[in-house]
Amino acid sequence: MAPPALSPLLALALIASASAQYLTPSDLPTDPAPNPIVLGHWFVIPAADFEGLRTLNPFLTDEQLANVKSGAECDTRADEDYCSELPAFFSGLGLSALADDGIRLMGVTDNGPFGTCPAPAEDEPPLPAGVRQSAYFVPAFAPTISEFRIDQEAGGMALEKTCFFKGPDGEPLNGLPNTDRDDVPMEAGCETEIDRSPNGIDPEDIHRIPGTDLCLGGDEYSPSAIVFNCNFESEDCGTVMIRYVPEGLELPGASYEVRSNLPSAILNRRKGRGIESAAVSPDGKSAYLLLQSAMGPNKNATSELSHTIHVVKLDITNPMDAKVAGLFLYIAEDIDLWVGTEKPADTKISAAFWASEFVDSDNDVLVVLERSVKQVKLFLADFTNATDVVDSPMNTNLTFDNLGLFDETLSKLEGFGISPAKKAIFLDTGNVTEPLIEGWDSTDKQEGVVLLNKCVVAMANDNDFGEGLSEASSVTVVHLDTCVDEVYDALKASGSSRKLLL
Ligand SMILES: *[C@@H]1O[C@H](CO)[C@@H](O)[C@H](O)[C@H]1NC(C)=O
Ligand SMILES: *[C@@H]1O[C@H](CO)[C@@H](O)[C@H](O)[C@H]1NC(C)=O
Ligand SMILES: *[C@@H]1O[C@H](CO)[C@@H](O)[C@H](O)[C@H]1NC(C)=O
Ligand SMILES: *[C@@H]1O[C@H](CO)[C@@H](O)[C@H](O)[C@H]1NC(C)=O
Repeated sequence: MAPPALSPLLALALIASASAQYLTPSDLPTDPAPNPIVLGHWFVIPAADFEGLRTLNPFLTDEQLANVKSGAECDTRADEDYCSELPAFFSGLGLSALADDGIRLMGVTDNGPFGTCPAPAEDEPPLPAGVRQSAYFVPAFAPTISEFRIDQEAGGMALEKTCFFKGPDGEPLNGLPNTDRDDVPMEAGCETEIDRSPNGIDPEDIHRIPGTDLCLGGDEYSPSAIVFNCNFESEDCGTVMIRYVPEGLELPGASYEVRSNLPSAILNRRKGRGIESAAVSPDGKSAYLLLQSAMGPNKNATSELSHTIHVVKLDITNPMDAKVAGLFLYIAEDIDLWVGTEKPADTKISAAFWASEFVDSDNDVLVVLERSVKQVKLFLADFTNATDVVDSPMNTNLTFDNLGLFDETLSKLEGFGISPAKKAIFLDTGNVTEPLIEGWDSTDKQEGVVLLNKCVVAMANDNDFGEGLSEASSVTVVHLDTCVDEVYDALKASGSSRKLLL
């Protein structure tokens, strides 16, 4: 019998182990580029013994993995199929360490192989208003965190460490919705409903809390934020210590502590649009949580036009006892300035990163990643002088999410005496077909962002576990033509929350 052909994935992994040359901070330019240029686009290359979802979640049975393709089956998979060896490593991206023996990047997977169910056929009873069904192809999948170094010799990102999310009891969590505030979970095939779970998480960002073994993550479900152990050397790695949900919501039966103390206003978030982005300050004392979209009912014509994003500031001096330190507004990019995107509801806030130390400021300055169909833009946003609206009576009737288009929103907020975060754009990929960045060949599904220094940014994409014939998860590193300290000087000088300064 002929030996089985080596899969391309495995072949790459074998090359990886030969001689590694990891990307270090000193490999990166520290002056601006003449124009934005891709320094590298690296796909994840796991070790030779990697067995896909089974390696990430060793407890999964063959039966539980039956709905995802594996090995050679992946090569002939259909558009709607998932591939076990192509996990969605980057629903969020974090900077683990800027170490001399190789920059460590962290990723957090999405909730699992997952798809939206088709609406019921015409001869079937319709779903109640606002109800959506989603199919979970591996309902027992526990979202996972991972650590990587970029191996320049092998031309890929070496997957070095992983652990899955679990409760303090050591039992794996899962990626199922918690309550009827989220989609109705169905089995693959969309015929049979699955029970919801208070232990379901849908993590979307990951950042270390300096001085601790802990990380903070935004979560789409409920919406919420989780604090978890992210020390890959510890057997507690992946343990969720506490989950913060909005006031008015409870998650009885969860295996970890649940605290209902986020502003109740964010309970109005649209289904499927939760806390996609988070940022943690270098002193470990503050965090920001950004909603993905404006709030309001799904498919509501007024809120689909809204550019308003609600942002929660937390005092995490004690991460186990986080306190709300404010509720702020961030106005998403003017819909007219996206290529070929018609309504604000088609754009998303997908990642954030605390940038103060890269712009030599003590202010609350974040990098915010916005994306639309086919295009990604990066902004610096300063929340220091933004108005805290946590006690505003206008939260109760969604006033802020029904202010009209971009210019109208800014002028109405001015009329209310409310300042949103000030922001300035510093990178625009252009659309995927005609990119504005030299060498850009990545997708528009970028869901993670970190700065590697003031002139170099790394972004990571969510590959949906191989759905849509997507390739392995990857990171793209871009050399900026205006470094963020210079962007910040312009932002401060402008005195406005207008969009484009550069
Ligand atoms: C949209 O939602 C708002 C509340 O946010 C409500 O006042 C309005 O009537 C809704 N519009 C439609 C068309 O359903
Ligand atoms: C915030 O407001 C203060 C007082 O008006 C001003 O001095 C400062 O420059 C502002 N900061 C930013 C980042 O706009
Ligand atoms: C929303 O609430 C605010 C504050 O109570 C009030 O001024 C405003 O008129 C309300 N808007 C609508 C559309 O009901
Ligand atoms: C991409 O952008 C260019 C330049 O703005 C535009 O001409 C082209 O139509 C866009 N293509 C798509 C598919 O949106």
